[in-house]
Amino acid sequence: MKKIGQWQWLEKEEVGSTNDEALILSQEIKSGKYVVTAQRQTNGRGRRGRSWIGYDGNLFMSFIQEIELSQIGQIVFVVSLSLLESLQAIFPKIDIKLKWPNDVLVENNKISGILLEKGAGKYLIIGIGVNLCGAPKLSGVLYPATSLKDKGYETDRLTLFEKYVEIYDKNCQILKEQGFMPIREKWLRNVKGLGEKIEVHTEKETKIGIFKDIDTNGALLLEEKNGLEKIYAGDIFYIDKK
Ligand code: BTN
Repeated sequence: MKKIGQWQWLEKEEVGSTNDEALILSQEIKSGKYVVTAQRQTNGRGRRGRSWIGYDGNLFMSFIQEIELSQIGQIVFVVSLSLLESLQAIFPKIDIKLKWPNDVLVENNKISGILLEKGAGKYLIIGIGVNLCGAPKLSGVLYPATSLKDKGYETDRLTLFEKYVEIYDKNCQILKEQGFMPIREKWLRNVKGLGEKIEVHTEKETKIGIFKDIDTNGALLLEEKNGLEKIYAGDIFYIDKK
């Protein structure tokens, strides 16, 4: 095992899913922070039971971290913000935005995915995939994925991994010492669609309203005719401005 920043780092050549490897590791450890990366991922998992197709050369990483229950809702914002900031550090001119709750968009296309799962004990598994050089080209998808390479931004997985760990550690420190507010402010400065009309697809229904804010747990605050609605989970879609 190697070390990176404050993390014990396990690098694998090939895995089914780095989140599965991380779950197994979380059962064997008692304390400390661990991260698993893989050069190739053959059976990656995405949110809501979807699969995550992993092209060789893309970044697959799963962090194993003890998180206070009260901060579980907030950590995803630290993760997506840190990913945005690390890509901005590598490509200062990149056109990059965040999309609630946990996507990163480059020129309006999704380039990454974040999957939080429960690990053993108090551990949370934070799985992150970044499309560095390949992304599935699916037609009919409302939110098409792309890769950084397709958009003209080339870097290698370890350069981004190292930058990400550095920035994520700093942002976790901010969360620990100053709470969610500074993270929330930075996140809101970089989110797409704030103050605009959006459509939110939850498991049960579709809602339309103005994207007003996020609350202290990261729930989306949608202004509808009858007032502010709190939305805890869903996919958002932007309504084209005419
Ligand atoms: C999403 O559906 O947007 C989340 C995708 C998460 C993919 C990453 S890749 C590394 C880690 N291992 C997995 O099997 N999934 C996550």
